Formats: sequence, structure tokens, C-alpha cells
Amino acid sequence: MPNNFINFDQLSQNDLQGIIDRAISLKKEHKSGLINETLKNKTLAMIFDKSSTRTRVSFEAGMTQLGGQSLFLSEKDIQLGRGEPITDSAIVISSMVDAIMLRLSSHEDIVEFSKHSSKPVINALSDESHPCQILADLMTYQEYRGSIKGKKIAWIGDGCNVCQTYMQAAAIFDFELSIATPSGYEPSDIFIEKYKKNIIFFENPKDACRDADIIVTDVWTSMGQELEIKQREKAFKGFQVDQKLMDQAKDNALFMHCLPAYRGKEVSTEVIDGKQSVVWSEAENRLHVQKSLLLYLIEG
Ligand code: CP
Ligand code: NVA
Repeated sequence: MPNNFINFDQLSQNDLQGIIDRAISLKKEHKSGLINETLKNKTLAMIFDKSSTRTRVSFEAGMTQLGGQSLFLSEKDIQLGRGEPITDSAIVISSMVDAIMLRLSSHEDIVEFSKHSSKPVINALSDESHPCQILADLMTYQEYRGSIKGKKIAWIGDGCNVCQTYMQAAAIFDFELSIATPSGYEPSDIFIEKYKKNIIFFENPKDACRDADIIVTDVWTSMGQELEIKQREKAFKGFQVDQKLMDQAKDNALFMHCLPAYRGKEVSTEVIDGKQSVVWSEAENRLHVQKSLLLYLIEG
């Protein structure tokens, strides 16, 4: 069975830390102009049923920088979108490439694909989680502030896929996660039950942000929920990360957001474009950490 990266906690803390440390070295090497063609003649298939800027560009550029190739396969352009079974698609595609990255609405479909794939499978965002994003967030924190162990992270807003991956990361990297969501927008009960050890829930975002080392948020309406946009904007009133919330946190607290962001909704312009925000490093680090992940999965 190939190694996969579908759920954040399927790799050990040691392996995840190794991927982050190597990403920091790869970033330095890349910036110094060093050429690393370890994945020469290797191919990554990238299957998307949702939009993407960062994930697509970072995986594509990452493969090129490592000397390999990538194939952008929009679901509607391949037979998968016309009803070819996931099983058959997985057998065929994995017989031709060296790794497969999937951004599919259904987490179960990614798991199903992996069961029939002879090559490593990467979850590039599902309705349940976004493990590649959290690798980049952890790398970014390490670059700015060092170890995240014992730190306090405040998640403000929707208990979505990205929030749920933070819950998994809190258990593995042993940090405290304070979550404030409007009622009805909490993470799934399964995640709450499984990862409750490192998590404290708050009704009031202000309380969740007190003494935090990072404040992190995401869109109020994730991809696929567009019909709920009006109702969500009403429900999330009071959950915008603004300077008042940032002021509850430690003086050296960082602001993170996986992007895309909507200024004036989940975050104020002054926060996302302010000096505590590290969103551009966070986005760039998708490139470096995924190169490291590809090396880990493909080289073994
Ligand atoms: N953060 C993130 O995954 O961005 P994209 O949707 O642009 O890939
Ligand atoms: N929660 C967001 C993340 C986008 C990167 C979504 O699923 O649309």
C-alpha cells in the first residue's frame, strides 16, 4: 500500500515535523537558486471538482521545480465527471502517474480513490479537511515564532474543513485550540468527540482570542455552500476578526487565513493587511511544504 496524505493525523508527529523541516530547507535552497530535480520524469495527476488558485499553482509549480510534470484534470474534462467509477479511474490513473492529488467535495470519494490507487494520494481539500493547508500554517508559525507546542490558537468563524484539520493538528502537535463559532456552525460531532482533549469551545469570539498566539479564520461560506450565503452572513455577525479581537491576543500574536479572503466579512481590511498578518507567507509556504510532501510520498 502506498503512503497517502488524506487525513492530517495519518502521519506521525515525527514525519509531519520532518516534512515541515525539510520544507524550510527546500525554501532556502529554492531562493538561493539551487536546482533540485529529484522528481525528474515523475508525474503528479491533479484532479479538481472545485476551484483553486493556491493549491493548483503550488502543486504545479512545485512539480516543475522538482524536475517533474503535473497534469491538471478538471473533473468535468475527464470521464470521472461523466460517471466512470472512482475505482476504475483510480486503477487507470495510478498505473500511469507517480502520485495523485484530489480536491473533491466528498472526503469519502478521496478515501475510495486511495483504496484502488497503486500510488500515493493527497487530499487537496474535501468537505471534511484540508491537511496541506495546515502543514503550511504550521511551517509558517515555525518560521516566525518557533515551536507551536503549548501555544494557544484561536479559531474564529465557521467550524469548516480547515477548522477540523486544526483540531487534528492540535492533538498531534499538542497546542491548545480555542474555537468560537456561531451556534449551528460548529465542527462535526465526530471531530468534537475525537479531538476534544486539546480544544475549548467559546460562544464569544472575544473570550476565545484572549492571550492567543495565533488568531485564524476562514470564509463564512465555503465552496459548495453558496446557496446559504445570506443566511450565513446573518449568523456570523460579530465573528469578524477585527483589530478589537486581535487586541485580545498576545502582543506578538499572528493572524492567519488560508485564503481566499473576503475583506469586511470574516476579517477586516486593517487586520488582513496589517502587520500581524502572515497570510502571504502562509500562501507561499503551500509551495515549499507540498514539495516536501511530494518528496516524502514519492521518494518514500
Ligand atoms: N487555501 C487554498 O487552498 O486556496 P485555493 O482554494 O486557492 O487552492
Ligand atoms: N473552507 C474553504 C477553504 C478554501 C481554501 C472552502 O472549503 O471553500
